[in-house]
Amino acid sequence: MQGWAVPPQKEPEKSREEFRKEREEKVRWLIKNRYLRSERLKNALLKVPREDFIPSLYRDYAYLEVPLPLPGEEATISCPHSYPLFYEPLGLDKGHRFLEIGLGSGYGTALAREIVGQDGLVVSVEIDPLTFEFAKSNLENAGYTDIVLVKGDGGLGYLEMSPYDRICITGACIGIPSPLLKQLATGGRLIAPLIENGIQNLVLLEKSEKDVIKKVICEVLYVSLRGKYGVKYMK
Ligand SMILES: C[S@@+](CC[C@H](N)C(=O)[O-])C[C@H]1O[C@@H](n2cnc3c(N)ncnc32)[C@H](O)[C@@H]1O
Repeated sequence: MQGWAVPPQKEPEKSREEFRKEREEKVRWLIKNRYLRSERLKNALLKVPREDFIPSLYRDYAYLEVPLPLPGEEATISCPHSYPLFYEPLGLDKGHRFLEIGLGSGYGTALAREIVGQDGLVVSVEIDPLTFEFAKSNLENAGYTDIVLVKGDGGLGYLEMSPYDRICITGACIGIPSPLLKQLATGGRLIAPLIENGIQNLVLLEKSEKDVIKKVICEVLYVSLRGKYGVKYMK
């Protein structure tokens, strides 16, 4: 994980109550720092226990603003502010059909499931078999049994359940994979870390009948997308 200092491994010691307080404090911090605005995302962040999506030797760091290593090749759980950073501009909301590329720990997927609700749909694709199994068991243990989990190359999307109202790519790419743009509904939005001129920009794409409009949100630092549309970056 270039650019981030990973804290040392340690046996978990914190209680449920300590984690609950840290979760509430984190939500207050996200609001104060203007990452978080929407009520549905706020409620999801308060509900989903992030610590249950983290390998036990990093569990106590659940609410620190660092990405933490996951089983698999270069897989990480993104830092807590990443979720409002992506989901707020995406406008993820009740009833949306949502496609995530890069399941990771399953935490962002669980948040999305809470936000879209029973009328919505969540599909998540993960390329790394070890990461996939880790996330699947986290989600099952947390009681999320109605998410479509796909093991494979997310650059290809998941045609079977398209079109999607919202798509989130959680790995840095050199270009937006064309299958994902095709599987995005008209009026839909896609967010991704895009490598441009040697840096990563978080970009939001909005698809209309005529064209696709791109807006740069801020500079970010994410692990690279793998697979057909992937790139080895900053090696
Ligand atoms: C930053 S992590 C995702 C973090 C995740 N949102 C979470 O909450 O834990 C990026 C993930 O994308 C996965 N990935 C990379 N390339 C992929 C691809 N082509 N298709 C699907 N998943 C991919 C990585 O294995 C990694 O798990």
